[in-house]
Amino acid sequence: MSDTKTVKLVDEPNKRSSELPLLSGTLGPACVDIGTLYKDTGYFTYDPGYGSTASTKSAITYIDGDQGVLLYRGYPIEQLAEKSSFLETAYLLLNGELPSKDQFVKFEDQITHHTMMHESLKDFFKGFHHDAHPMAMLAASVASLSAFYHDDIDVDNAEDRKLAAIRLIAKMPTIAAACFRYSIGWPFRYPRNNLEYVDRFLHMMFEVPSEPLTLSPVAAKALDLLFILHADHEQNASTSTVRLVGSTGANPYASIAAGITALWGPAHGGANEAVLKMLEEIGSADKVETAVKRAKDKNDNFRLMGFGHRVYKNFDPRAKIIREMTHKVLGELGVNDPLLEVAMKLEEAALKDDYFVERKLYPNVDFYSGIIYKALNIPTEMFTVMFAIARTAGWIAHWIEQHETPGARIGRPRQIYTGANVRDYVPADKR
Ligand code: CMC
Repeated sequence: MSDTKTVKLVDEPNKRSSELPLLSGTLGPACVDIGTLYKDTGYFTYDPGYGSTASTKSAITYIDGDQGVLLYRGYPIEQLAEKSSFLETAYLLLNGELPSKDQFVKFEDQITHHTMMHESLKDFFKGFHHDAHPMAMLAASVASLSAFYHDDIDVDNAEDRKLAAIRLIAKMPTIAAACFRYSIGWPFRYPRNNLEYVDRFLHMMFEVPSEPLTLSPVAAKALDLLFILHADHEQNASTSTVRLVGSTGANPYASIAAGITALWGPAHGGANEAVLKMLEEIGSADKVETAVKRAKDKNDNFRLMGFGHRVYKNFDPRAKIIREMTHKVLGELGVNDPLLEVAMKLEEAALKDDYFVERKLYPNVDFYSGIIYKALNIPTEMFTVMFAIARTAGWIAHWIEQHETPGARIGRPRQIYTGANVRDYVPADKR
């Protein structure tokens, strides 16, 4: 980090100025450090949606939106997708380096031995209505982990933080599968320690007492790959939420539960569910043109779900990988889904349309992922839950990084007040 250059902001008429340091990271544009701006000039900065604002320094993930680059701890996503596994990637995000064989065996063993839910948490589920959305159950159940482990956690203790990370990564699939099974009235399944992470999850999802389950290596590989691609994405809305909650000193379970609720929105992780619903609504390739027309119409609030990204303005490298794997996975599973044709036609139509070209709107990670989840028999309402399982690795890595950063302060943005000026209270009989 070279902090030697400065940028001078001068307010000539009011004779105020501020000499602001320019901060550079290893990669990416330099940032003007405005920390002293208010003290020097009495001004705040205004950046709704944080289009030009870096909220933190971080060494976990790097994105170059113009070039379509995504790196976890320096490793290109394409290489991790091809060569790594979700658990190895989670280790990398948490620890900064790929594990040695021994380190990985130890990590996998720790994860495997923290997968069970507290029996009382099962009772907690009984309070939900049978058709509750799984994301609602997931957020509430993860927040409730604070009630089970609160006394164990000292957020200033590195070992405690590590244990919380292990617990969260380990228990998320167990809780997620319970959300699904509760919604369809199936008995919960205990995690099988003889299975690997993704197979264990698929077993907890789909095993029924009446017949043995044959696990598909194709399904496991596809899901593992999707988990790698979703594992982290620097300061997105849910990760920033985790950090904001974490900055108050809140425990990790409460912080991650907040991330889950932020992820749920259709502009963020909820887009994968919205994409599938949109494709079903479009129904057939010949209706694609109408959908594109609607998405361009400013009087219609319909948007092409799975299209556009705040950072990627060329292509989303995750979408590129998922697009290729969709064809492969559906082929290997022998699934012929007409929605794939609708999706391909929609992508083709949008990519040659001036509206989308001018605004640099490309398919994002959520555009094709739903078609794969559907081929794996994962119900639409569970799609964002899948995203949450994977993103837990990134969220908790950021939460830990935040606690390891010296001098971290509570997150507390300011505002431009646009309400009424000061006025006197008027008694009810005089209003
Ligand atoms: N369909 C139609 N128009 C769009 C779309 C879309 N999907 N996305 C952006 N636009 C238009 C938007 O109306 C605006 O037009 P104009 O300049 O004429 O006002 C322009 O493109 C810029 O859009 P924006 O809303 O200012 O961009 P943003 O960076 O604030 O929002 C986004 C990014 C991802 C929220 C947005 O593109 C969107 O809503 N996409 C659909 C939802 C989606 O797929 N979300 C998943 C994002 S990737 C995974 C994740 O984060 O979880």
